[in-house]
Formats: sequence, C-alpha cells, structure tokens
Amino acid sequence: QVSKAFLQEVQVKEINAVLLTKGMSDNWESIWNFQAKPNDLLIASYPKSALSGTTWTQEIVDMIQNDGDVRKCQRAYTYVRQPHLEWKPWLLSTPGLEEAEKMPSPRTMKTHLPVQLLPPSFWKENTKIIYVARNAKDVAVSYYHLSRAMSVLPRPGTLDEFIDKFMNGRVLWGSWYDHVKGWWNKKDKHPILYLFYEDMKENPKQEIQKILKFLEKDLSEEIINKIIYHTSFDIMKQNPMAGYDTIHINIIDHSISSFMRKGITGDWKNHFTVSQSEKFDEHYKKKMAGTTLTFRSEI
Ligand code: A3P
Repeated sequence: QVSKAFLQEVQVKEINAVLLTKGMSDNWESIWNFQAKPNDLLIASYPKSALSGTTWTQEIVDMIQNDGDVRKCQRAYTYVRQPHLEWKPWLLSTPGLEEAEKMPSPRTMKTHLPVQLLPPSFWKENTKIIYVARNAKDVAVSYYHLSRAMSVLPRPGTLDEFIDKFMNGRVLWGSWYDHVKGWWNKKDKHPILYLFYEDMKENPKQEIQKILKFLEKDLSEEIINKIIYHTSFDIMKQNPMAGYDTIHINIIDHSISSFMRKGITGDWKNHFTVSQSEKFDEHYKKKMAGTTLTFRSEI
C-alpha cells in the first residue's frame, strides 16, 4: 500500500534554484554529504533522461558488469540493483543513498542531479560517471507522458503548459538546457563518458564498446550481441526487473502511459504542433547559443 506521506513527495521545493521534491530537499544535507568511493560508478542524466534513456543505460551497464548473464541481471529491480541517490525508491521506505551506503563495493548508482548539485565527494574521489543525454523535444514528450501517469511527479497540465514549464526549467530536477550543458562542460575535467540516446538507438554496438573501454572491460563479440538483444526496447519491455512497468498502479497508472512507452527518436513530431515546435526552436537557439554540444532530434 502506498502511504499518504509517500505521495506527498510530489510537493516541490527549491535547492539553489533547482526544483526538487520536498523529500529530496528535506534530506538535502545527507544527499550533499554522501560519501562516494573511487571504485563507484555513477550513471547520471536529466530525468526521463527525462526520460533520456537512463534505465536503458543502467541495464546495459549491469549486463556488462555481469558478463552478459541475464539471470544475474534479473536478481532485483533496477532501483535496487543501482540505487537512485537522491530519490526514495518506489514502495521502499529508505532513500536511495541509504541503500547505496549498505551496498558492497564496487557500487553502481544513478542520479538526475544537475552537475552543480552533485555531492562533492564524487569529484574528490574521481569517481567514473556515465552521463546520458537525449534531444530536448523527445525528453519533453517522454517527461510529459510519465508525469501524466506517475502520481509521484507534479501534475503536468496540458502538453502546451508542460512545454512551457520545460522551457522555463520549472520541472523537477530543473532546466534541461542547464543540465545537459553543465555536465558537458565538466566532461573534460573529470572521468565522464557523455553518451547520447540517439547514438545508442542508431548504433548500440558502438556505444556499448565506448562503455566497455571506459570501464576498462573486454567482452567477446558474442556477449556484446547478447547484451544488445537483451537491452533492446522490446525485450526490456518484457523484463519485469527492468524499468518501472511492474510497479504499483498507485504510482504509475499504466492505463495512461507505460514507462517503456515508445523508445524511439522523433516521437515529438507526433505531439508538437508546428507553432509549438517553432516557438521551442526559437527559445532553444538562445538557450544553447555558444555551446559545442549538439543534439539530433531525428535519426
Ligand atoms: P519514451 O517515453 O520516449 O518511450 P529514463 O530511463 O531516462 O527515464 O528514459 C525513459 C525513456 O527511455 C522512455 O522513452 C523509454 O521508453 C526509453 N527506453 C527505455 N529503455 C529503452 C530501450 N531499451 N531502448 C530504447 N528506449 C528505451
């Protein structure tokens, strides 16, 4: 049964001008003081990687760490295998960071925090970080659908209202523009592998090989092909231990939208009107001016 207190998580509060849930900001001191270790691995992204492909990357990484052993990767739900630092896992009573503290090393964890809010111990310990990013319009659409279906996220309003909130960074975990740029700017000063959802869709083998190199691991062609198969959208959608489609109806109402929704690039074209798209592009140009970071919103 989902407690009332849990659902109250949905109230939002600001930390350094970034919107977080009340639960996260009440717990901020513990999050900020979280002690990372040099042999940890952190998977970071804007939510729904924002629905950016975080869960997908998490599954690929777990498969790599377990040499492609599917059964081992089904030992527990994604959020138990790789705790989400700042978030209280669905239906569990402890926040992700407390789960992480109990885990044996080497640990793999997840965060959606913007770079400036990452606990400083990650920088001090030189912990490896994989960041995954996805084009803004697909993130906005994915985030919108998940917010409609997921009771622990603030209500999105209409798509038009949500796009407006997204453009102004008035969504949980703050501005997508600042998030992707912030992590991009940090990537040459710290061991950060910066991946793109669109590249993973287009050429999963190439992106898995980048992860292998980053983790200093070597796997046979056969195991890599097995990982590609088991982390493909259709197979992952059927895996009850990957993603969040098996969680309680009070949290995600699957009749509204599933977590593993479409898993494609360019779905925004089925949602944005021409005028919404033009307004978005105009604003995007200003927000992304001067950065070398570029995205593909179709492949
Ligand atoms: P859509 O809503 O566009 O379908 P995150 O894990 O960061 O929250 O991202 C969720 C998005 O990644 C959802 O996008 C989901 O369908 C997609 N996704 C999850 N697993 C995937 C996979 N194996 N292949 C492609 N997309 C995947």
